[in-house]
Amino acid sequence: MINNDLFLKALNGETVERPPVWMMRQAGRYLPDFMKLKDKYDFFTRCRTPELATEITVMPIRQIGPDAAILFSDILVVPQAMNIEVEMKPGLGPWLPNPIRTGADVEKVIVPNIEETLGYVLDAVKMTKKELNNEVPLIGFAGSPWTILCYAVQGQGSKNFDIAKKFCFTNPVAAHALLQKITDTTIAYLKAKVAAGVDAIQIFDSWGGMLSPTDYPIFSFNYIQQIVDALKDEIPVIVFGKGCWFALNDMARSGASALGVDWTCSPRNARYLSGGEITLQGNFDPARLYSPPAEIKKMVHQMIDEFGKDRYIVNLGHGILPDIPVENAKAFIEAVKEYRPR
Ligand code: CP3
Repeated sequence: MINNDLFLKALNGETVERPPVWMMRQAGRYLPDFMKLKDKYDFFTRCRTPELATEITVMPIRQIGPDAAILFSDILVVPQAMNIEVEMKPGLGPWLPNPIRTGADVEKVIVPNIEETLGYVLDAVKMTKKELNNEVPLIGFAGSPWTILCYAVQGQGSKNFDIAKKFCFTNPVAAHALLQKITDTTIAYLKAKVAAGVDAIQIFDSWGGMLSPTDYPIFSFNYIQQIVDALKDEIPVIVFGKGCWFALNDMARSGASALGVDWTCSPRNARYLSGGEITLQGNFDPARLYSPPAEIKKMVHQMIDEFGKDRYIVNLGHGILPDIPVENAKAFIEAVKEYRPR
């Protein structure tokens, strides 16, 4: 049993005294102790060393006190395991020296054995669970197949992922073959994470909003649905699609336990579009954490009033920005703990 079970209760739709809170990308990025580790070890070394991944995962729990931990890792460890080379370049972000551009490239992509290729993530889950000692639940995650395809084909971050979209629309057979391989790998990977001990799963469809409402079901949501189908009877699943307000209705009927919402959709509209029953998570503008703590607190209380305290998980609308002062991140968490229904 987990001592602080607010997050699991909210995922389960139960009534709570206050909503739970965590922040996307809370592990790493803005904490000074993380910066020190970052100077010493390169990115994938931090991911592949369970002791470091554990230390970074637990850091925000000790320092700012959210109600759930998210494992320190990256969505791009999955394509790495599939024989797609991924580097992390300081200042640039993900860099893939040999992006996928043809059907022949897709054929070289493998659906790997998870224990052999991603055993280090499973070790990090087990070590983190021990270290957390049932204080708070641990979230495991994966990118959506579409979001992984975006990096695998584009070869790096992008404002519009034009090369990835061109690949899908000019070579849909190869694109779907790749999406299916990523889906099969992701399902096996997430099942292994569940077996290793995570308490919930979040699927990050960070670039879902690059697709039109017509293409979204075809190139993204169909594959997310397969993942939800495979996991929903074992563990609560959160689906976060950035820019995907138009898909909230389909997502609400997917069997997911909760849906992430970004800050461009009002709480009222998100409730309306998702049918008013399912737990929602979000959606504070990450840039609003630059405001003074008193203003952050006021805005967080207003956001909770708008979503309602039940069937709601307080979060940002996307990842925390790297230069947010720690006291502002703390104010965000504290505001939720101080919340009293009006
Ligand atoms: O809370 C956490 O931070 C947990 C760990 C986590 C990381 N990446 C660590 C990381 C999680 C949940 C992710 C998910 C992730 N990775 C996503 C989906 C979430 C989102 O923000 O949309 C995406 C798109 C990626 C791909 C990725 N990894 C990018 C674009 C970058 C570079 C820019 C950046 O900082 O986001 C990374 C590198 C990365 N992943 C860092 C961290 C802490 C920074 C690099 C470093 O620490 O050296």
